[in-house]
Amino acid sequence: NKVTLTVIKADIGGFVGHSSVHPKVMEKAQEVLAESDLLVDFHVTHVGDDINLIMTHRHGTDSEEIHKLAWDTLVACTEIAKELKLYGAGQDLLADAFSGNVKGMGPGVAEMEFEERKSEPVIVFMADKTEPGAWNYPLYKMFADPFNTIGLVIDPKMHDGFFFEVHDLIENKKVLFSTPEELYDLLVFIGAPGRYCIKSVYSKQGEIAATSSTQRLNLMAGRYVGKDDPVCIVRCQSGLPAVGEALEPFANPHLVSGWMRGSHSGPLMPVSLQECNPTRFDGPPRVVALGFQLAEGKLIGPQDFFADPSYDEARKMANKIANYLRQLGPFEPHRLHLDEMEYTTLPQVSKKLKDRFIDADAPINIKEVAATK
Ligand code: F6R
Ligand code: MG
Ligand code: MG
Repeated sequence: NKVTLTVIKADIGGFVGHSSVHPKVMEKAQEVLAESDLLVDFHVTHVGDDINLIMTHRHGTDSEEIHKLAWDTLVACTEIAKELKLYGAGQDLLADAFSGNVKGMGPGVAEMEFEERKSEPVIVFMADKTEPGAWNYPLYKMFADPFNTIGLVIDPKMHDGFFFEVHDLIENKKVLFSTPEELYDLLVFIGAPGRYCIKSVYSKQGEIAATSSTQRLNLMAGRYVGKDDPVCIVRCQSGLPAVGEALEPFANPHLVSGWMRGSHSGPLMPVSLQECNPTRFDGPPRVVALGFQLAEGKLIGPQDFFADPSYDEARKMANKIANYLRQLGPFEPHRLHLDEMEYTTLPQVSKKLKDRFIDADAPINIKEVAATK
C-alpha cells in the first residue's frame, strides 16, 4: 500500500511583480488537477510568486504521467498568467514541450514514495526568494542536532541517527553521510549551501524521512535564470522528528541567499499563508509550513503552522535582521559574493573601464590628472 507524495512548483507569473500568485491562476490549477484521475488527492497552494501542486498518487517517484500532469497544469496556468499579463508569465517553463520528466525543465520537484504508516503526519515546507541550500540548516537541526531535536537523545527509535544524502550541484555528484558518526564531515559540505545541498534524509532502517527540490535553476539551460525557490517534504513522529522538532529550526531565522534580484543575503522569515507575499525589498525571503495527515493517500489538512503566535518572535527577529542588513546596501555580505549573484553589471562595467585599469605598480601623476578636470 505505497503512496507517493509529489510536490511540483514553479513561478509562472507574479502578481504583482514577483510578490504573489493571482487567484485565477490557482483556480486554473485546481480545475486541471481535479479533472485528472491519476491522483488520489491534491492541494494547490502558493508561497510568494510560486505556485505549488501538492499531489498524492500510486505511480511512484519520477512518474512520467504525474510529471506530465503537473507540466500541463502549469502550461494551462501560464495561459491565464499571459491573459492577465502577470509579471514573467511562463518564466519557469524553460522547455517548449514536455519530455518525460519535469526535472531540468524549470519547475522544482520534491517527491517520496513510502508505505503509509498507521498515522502519517507530513509537513510540506515551501520557500520563496531563496535557493535549495536554504534547507541545509533546518534539516541538519531537525535530524542531527540534539539541542533542536531532543528525540535524538531520548527516543530509542531515533538514537541511532540518520543518513544524509548530499548533492554537489556544481560537479553533479552525491554522497551519503551517516550521523552522528560523520557529523563533522557532513558540516564541512552543507555549511556551503550555495553548492552542497541536502537532497534527502533516511532513517537508519532505510526509510525516507525528508526530501527537497535541489535542481538549481540558475545553472540550468546554460544560463542564470534565477534562484530556485525550493520546497521540502518532512515525515514526522514515531521514530522521526516530532512535528514541533521539525518546526523548531525556523524559530531562529537563518541567513539565506536570494531576496532582491536573487543577489542578497537575508533572514528566512517563517510566515502563514496569509503573510507569504514578499514585500520589503522583494522579501525578506520566507517559508511556509503546511502540515497534513495522510489517510489512504488523502491529504487531511492543511495546518498552517507558522500562523501560530509562537513564531511572532521569529518574525520580529527576521525584521530586525532585515533592517540591519539593508543598511549595508550594495555591500557584501548583504549583497552576495560576485559568483553567486543572479544579476550583475560587472562584465559591462569592467569592459567600459578596461583601458582605465593600469598596472598596480605604475605611477599615477595625480596633479596631471587633476589639471585635465
Ligand atoms: C528575486 C526576485 C525579484 C526580482 C526583482 C527584479 O528572486 O524575484 O527580487 O529579481 O523584482 O525583477 P526584474 O528583473 O524581473 O524586473
Ligand atoms: Mg519570480
Ligand atoms: Mg519565487
